[in-house]
This record gives sequence, structure tokens and C-alpha cells, in this order.
Amino acid sequence: MKKLFLGCLLFVCYTVQAQELNVVPMPAEVELKAGFLPLKQKISIHYINGKVPENITQSFKKMLSTRYKVIFKEKITGKEESSTIYIELKKDFKSEEYKIYIGDRDITISGNENGIFYAFQTLGQMIMVDKDRSLKIRMGTIKDYPRFTYRGMHLDAGRHFFPVSYIKKYIDYLAFHKFNNFHWHLTEDQGWRIEIMKYPKLTEVGSCRAQTLSGRYGSDKYDGKKYCGFYTQAEIRDVVKYATDRFINVIPEIDIPGHTLAALASYPYLGCTKGPYKVMETWGVQPDILCAGNDSTYTFVQNVLDEVMDLFPSKYIHIGGDEAPKERWETCPVCQKKMKNENLKDEHNLQSYFIQRVEKYVNSKGRQIIGWDEILEGGLAPNATVMSWRGVKGGIAAAKQNHFAIMTPETPLYLNHTQTKNEDSITQGGYNPLELVYNYEPVAAELTKEEEKYILGAQGNMWSEYISNWGKLEYMLFPRMSALSEVVWSPKQKRNWKDFERRLPVLFELYKLWGAGYSNAFYDLQPSVIQSDKGIAWKLETKNKNGKIIYLTGRENSATFDYTSPLPVKRSVTLGAALTAADHTIISSWVWQEFILNKASGKKITVTTKPNTSYSGSGAFTLVDGVQNKMGMVRSAQFLGFNGNDLEAIIDLDSLQEIKEIILHAFEQTGSWIYRPASVAFYSSVDGKDFKLIGEIVSGTGSKNLLYTINTSTTCRYIKVFAKNYGVIPAGKQGAGNKSWLFSDEIEIN
Ligand code: ACM
Ligand code: ZN
Repeated sequence: MKKLFLGCLLFVCYTVQAQELNVVPMPAEVELKAGFLPLKQKISIHYINGKVPENITQSFKKMLSTRYKVIFKEKITGKEESSTIYIELKKDFKSEEYKIYIGDRDITISGNENGIFYAFQTLGQMIMVDKDRSLKIRMGTIKDYPRFTYRGMHLDAGRHFFPVSYIKKYIDYLAFHKFNNFHWHLTEDQGWRIEIMKYPKLTEVGSCRAQTLSGRYGSDKYDGKKYCGFYTQAEIRDVVKYATDRFINVIPEIDIPGHTLAALASYPYLGCTKGPYKVMETWGVQPDILCAGNDSTYTFVQNVLDEVMDLFPSKYIHIGGDEAPKERWETCPVCQKKMKNENLKDEHNLQSYFIQRVEKYVNSKGRQIIGWDEILEGGLAPNATVMSWRGVKGGIAAAKQNHFAIMTPETPLYLNHTQTKNEDSITQGGYNPLELVYNYEPVAAELTKEEEKYILGAQGNMWSEYISNWGKLEYMLFPRMSALSEVVWSPKQKRNWKDFERRLPVLFELYKLWGAGYSNAFYDLQPSVIQSDKGIAWKLETKNKNGKIIYLTGRENSATFDYTSPLPVKRSVTLGAALTAADHTIISSWVWQEFILNKASGKKITVTTKPNTSYSGSGAFTLVDGVQNKMGMVRSAQFLGFNGNDLEAIIDLDSLQEIKEIILHAFEQTGSWIYRPASVAFYSSVDGKDFKLIGEIVSGTGSKNLLYTINTSTTCRYIKVFAKNYGVIPAGKQGAGNKSWLFSDEIEIN
């Protein structure tokens, strides 16, 4: 209790100082008056035109009684000092819309039941505590309604399992932020997590894997520990009820035909090769998927979906459809026969046939399917809603075909991707910092007014490969989920990053009150390597207004200096930096950067082929910034990434130089579709016009971080490097048939 109270005091400081509204997501229409309505220690709720169910007022009452020790009374006797909240059901309000009026005597809340529920989420955030601990609330009127009808958060319970108590916590967080859909990813290669009565082996066998990858993806380090978990049907009913009470629809995802290895391990007849199969122990995509030729597969899917639809009242049932490699289907006689019989041109059409057949079944039960954007390939099922994850293209394509779409692009809405460049735990993929999430716009500019209507909303996804415990999950979730709530709820013109930044400390105090973890990354020291007019420089920034930046040169040196402007880097050196408080104590962890300089470092460079926008580092300069990736993992800021393209770079050394060695630094991680270049050619020139081939090499040294080195004896001013893309990903590999990526972090000239 003591801890809670301290939290309150902090909360007070922020709220009382700031005259603005400290509510997330920011309401649509706010009209505040100068004065405050004092809140008494007793509050009564008075129903103007009929009582609303208990679940609507419950979280507000609980918050007031635990946090502020306020007593609720249905009836107040004549002499008692109390405040009154009037509740008025308004059938003419839109769904989820509400109004709060805070006058000088009492409070009136109006709306439909879901609107009244949301009004309480807002009202709870408006209560302030004065110095004498009395409660008050700013007078005024709030009229509020959501921008999007679909406001979602997803959770992958397949890679790691989260028990019901945590799922309920997650739902509480969603409800507070006015999200209305919880997308529960229940089946995966790594574990089948939902009890199905007709197929008991799905959980007897499929809910356990023998061990789990413990090292970085692509490593062969496993923990050797059996990992299990599933939800019983009774638990699922309990979760659905819990969510429904909070106006959250639960969308189950049964991911088919790919990501089904746990089902195949349970019932090998479902696969093309008939096994044996084993529940997956590492991450990524693997080739064994449901056999689309065998009618018994469809019977299985229908029987599973029967139980799923019985458990989940959701209009939408998510059937996945993502990342289903076609190589088993290509060689499976049953699949090939099906393609012939159904006149299907290729395996993409077979996938489309599969999804459409399942859709027909789901539609026959009065429900609709959602699928990941791969369901666009080979032809969209007639009534399907598309969840756009591989960027926004899928969502745009769906809307242009008059299909509903939900936007959940990896950048920036995969909240399992890192939010800081200083991340010291393993996270997946790219870099999705808070501000990028906040500024995401779900309605793409290329959509017409008519097409815009098909964008139902957006969703944050939380994949759990590298989220094995609840603490890590909350760290990845907050504050980015709070930022997203404003993207999907608040009117576009109300979205204001500066004001969200102002409210961030208030949110942090709230997370603390909840006992929830969160990331402080926004206030971390943010280093970047920049190109200055003098060459390479190390720039350090922080949003922490109370912090001062200090730095030192070399890990062995202890003398620190105050940082005032970007530090020029003139030689190979390791620099370190940290934040200190006014009393000189260090309040952040140290960040370090090693620079390895050579003749090319900081020189003028042009890249004539275009890197992909997701991996464009700090432009062409990335290749001569003195920073070499030695981590064996992708740090997106350090690389240029080319999807299907070659890399051509020209470096101007300023003057004629004697060259002995040129090295292209490349990267390979085939599981992530990143391949070594097929060949690298090096050229020299004295005038930047005529280039002479120095030589071409076809293989690099090292593993993961690869070096393509050529020795020479040349005098020139310009060097051109041409790295040829590996090409299409070969059969049997993850992503087979797709364009491969070429990654480079540095070109070294000695
Ligand atoms: C996905 O991230 N495979 C939908
Ligand atoms: Zn097959």
C-alpha cells in the first residue's frame, strides 16, 4: 500500500502542474473550464434511466477504492457528504461514443453501454490529488468517439505460452486504452495452445516441444528443457467472458496451412510426407505444412473450427495463411492431383483454393475470415478481410479490391521489434521506436475517399519468439501500446507528438501504479554516427531534460569529458558515453562505439543502386562510417540492405592514393533471407569516368559477417565496388522462390 501511495504522490505532481488533459488516448472534443469539482470521499452513482451492468462501473470503482480510498454508495442518506455521478443511457449515441460533463456540483456521463465504459476509463485518468490529499477533477465537457472501428492488439501464445492470469492482465491494459479487439494467436509450429476435444493429441503432443532455441536465431544453442502449455476450453470461455465484460472482442487465430508443425506432429496424416514430425524447437519458417490435396485435411480444419467458433463468439475468425512454403505441395502427388482436378495453375492457386474452401465453411456458420496478406496471392477469398503485415501494400491492394483491411505493418506496428538502438536483450527484426509508432497513419495516401472506408483500423502485434516471460512482454508493450491507442482512437488532427511526449511521464507513473514494466528507451542516450563536414562524428542525444551527457575515449581510460557537440572521429578509437544527474551520478548504462578507420572512412560515397527503405542506414555514408558490424546479427542502422538488387558504390578518396587492399563487408543469415553476394567486382579510376577492373571474387571469408577481400597495387582516386545479388532463394531454404537480400555494412580501403 505504501508503494501505491508514493506512486500517487508522483502522479499528483505531474497532474497538478500540467493544466492540460492527461488522458490517453486523447479524447476527440475537450472543453475544459478553469475550476475544479472537489470529489468527496464518498461517491454515489445515480442511474437516470436504468441501471447499467456491474461490469461497466467495476474497474472505475475498484480504481477509486484501491488508489484513492473512496467509498462507493448506491444510496447516500440525507446528511452524508458525497459526490454524485449521474449515468444516462443514450440510445441515440453511436456505439462507443460518450460524453462526460463535469459541473460545479456533479458529474454526468452519457452514452451506450460501451460508451459509458469508455467514459469511466477517461474519468479515472482525470482525477487529481491535491497537496492536502483531497481529490478534485477539472470542470468541463468531453465528447469522445473512436476514429477506427477496429482497434487491435495481438499476442502470440504459440512461441511462448502465457497463462490465463497474464492474458487477463493484457486484456485490462487493452480496455484501459480503449482497444476493442484482442487477436489471440493460438497455434504455431512451436506449440498448439488450444484444447480441441475431437483431437486430443493436439494438446497431448502438440502443446510440448522437447527444447527451445536459447541462442541467437541461426545458432545451435538449445536449452534442453521441455516446454509445454495450452488453454483448456473452460479457460478460454473464462477469458472470452472477461474480455466481453470489457467490451473487447477476442479473435482466435488458427494459423493454416503453414505454421502447423505442432498439428502435424500430433496427427502426421495431415502432412504431405506423413512424417514423422516433431514440434519445432527453433524459430523461422519450415517447409512442412498441411496437405492441401487430401480431403481429410479439410475435415480436420472444419472440425477444429467448429469447436473454435463454439468457444469464440467473434464475427471474425483468423485463419492465418502466412508464410506457407509451397515446396511440399510441389512434390506431393495428392496436392498435384488436386491442382489438376481443380484446374489450378500453380501452388499459389492451390493456397487460394485452400483458403477459399475454408472461408466458405466459416461463412456457412455466419462468420467471416481474416487472413494475413499472403491470402491475396493466387486470388482473394470473396469475403476475406486482409491483415497487412508485410508493409502496407497488402492493405492497400485489399482496399482497392473493395475488401476490408486491418493495418499491422511490421514497421512500425510489430512491437516485438526493438525500440532502442541500445537494446541489450535479443529482439526481432527492425527498429520501431516510440515516435515512429505514434506517427503511424493507417490510411495510406494513395487510397481514394471511397477506398479509405475499407481500412477498418490498425493493430499492434506481439510475436513471442524472444519474449519468454511477462516482464519482457511489458517492456516491449509500454509505452508503445499507449502511443498506438492514440493512432487508432483519436481524430487524426488531434494526434500531437509533442503533447504525447508531455504526457509520457504521467503514463510512466500509471505503469508503476499497475506494477507493470515498461521501457525507458525514449529517455535513453541515443547515439548515432553522422557525416559532418569534417568527416565522421559521433552524435549523442537524450530527451532526458535533467541528464547531462559525458563521454570518454577508450574503455581503459577513466577521464570523462562533458559532451557539447558531435565528437569528430579522426582515428580508430572506441568511444563511450553515459548520462549523469546534476550530482554527477551516472543514471544510464554506458553506450560504446568502436570506430575502425581506413582510407575510405568519411569519404564521399555514392550508391547507384537503391537500398530498401527498411534497411537504408544513414544512406550511402553507412558504408564508410568507420562502423563494422561484428555482432553476427542485424542491427538495421549499421547496414544497407538490397532486396533482389545488386549493390554498386563509388568512393571518392579526394586525391590520388596508393591502394593495396579493398574489402567489402557483407552479411549472411539465410534463415532471414539474407544471402552472400554471388560475386564482387572491384574497379579503380583516376578521373571518376573511366573505371578499370581490378578483379572479381566469388567467395568471402568468415561466417555471417563475411569479408570479400582483394589485394592490388593501384594508384587511383576513385574505387567502385559492384556486388551481385545472390538471386532467388533456392528450394529447400526458408523463403524459397523469393528475392534474397544483400546486406553490407562497410567498404574498407587500405
Ligand atoms: C507474420 O508475421 N508472419 C504474420
Ligand atoms: Zn500434399
